[in-house]
Amino acid sequence: MAPIIKPHEGRRNPGRGILHLRAPAKVNLRLEVLGLREDGYHELRTWIYPIGLWDEIVLERIRKGLKLRCDHPEVPEDDLCLKAARLFFEQTGIRGGVRVTLVKGIPVGAGLGGGSSDAAAVLKGLCALWGLDLPEERLMAMGQEIGSDVPFFLRGRPALVAGRGERILQELPPLGLPLVILFPGRGLSTAEVYRRFDLSLTKPRGENKIIKDFPPRDWKGFVWNDLEPVAKEMMPEIGEMEEALLRAGAKAAGMTGSGSAVFGVFGTEEEARVALRALGASRWKAYLALTF
Ligand code: C5P
Repeated sequence: MAPIIKPHEGRRNPGRGILHLRAPAKVNLRLEVLGLREDGYHELRTWIYPIGLWDEIVLERIRKGLKLRCDHPEVPEDDLCLKAARLFFEQTGIRGGVRVTLVKGIPVGAGLGGGSSDAAAVLKGLCALWGLDLPEERLMAMGQEIGSDVPFFLRGRPALVAGRGERILQELPPLGLPLVILFPGRGLSTAEVYRRFDLSLTKPRGENKIIKDFPPRDWKGFVWNDLEPVAKEMMPEIGEMEEALLRAGAKAAGMTGSGSAVFGVFGTEEEARVALRALGASRWKAYLALTF
């Protein structure tokens, strides 16, 4: 049986110029699209939790250049990790280079935030390797330049988030909520999902519902994602996976980010394990993870 991975810090050994890091995935327990902004991004309000599903990263100081080693076929050569490293060297003026080795444990293009989390880990890791203590606002501004979810991962704690996803409104309590995540084996493009999303055709429910209680007593009423109808049009399997999670005993099921992964919220770890065993035999990839 797959062990449940609980959140913990990566191993640090900056003295030798090598750093081992673990970058967590996230789920959007609820995602509301509130409007289209002048800069072309969508205004969001979303409840995000880091979860115990990880990518492994090794950073090595080298004299110059930015190098990426990754055996996952869908990670592009110019991954967000390298974008983060490039920005770090440009903005700090440090002369040096880094070799990044990335071992993916988080599905790619799944809405689980793996690429953004890797970029955040690389930024923080490079600061540690060069003994640099950048002010938080500076780090967050760099993160925002890399991608909308990067500031959230730089913080690394559950949060209610607004703006294009970069503005942390408030931190949320740790929940240790047992989730089962299903991934259909292929991802969706975030840009494409947002491009097809039409506020005038879709009736977002989010903005009409004011969330007063968190954590909610009724997870089914809380779990929600305004991007889901568009993502389902592109990939009908998303609906099938959610139904399978509910049949396997989930209290609620929803899509994370812009898809294609979905999650089910379970009452206990044991219930989640039972569901994982049942769903592990399906055609989808199944993971058990706890929220932070
Ligand atoms: O910021 P990030 O690079 O992750 O976003 C990828 C794409 O998703 C953006 O280029 C944009 O088209 C879309 N997006 C959006 N509104 C957001 C976040 C992303 O329209 N809040």
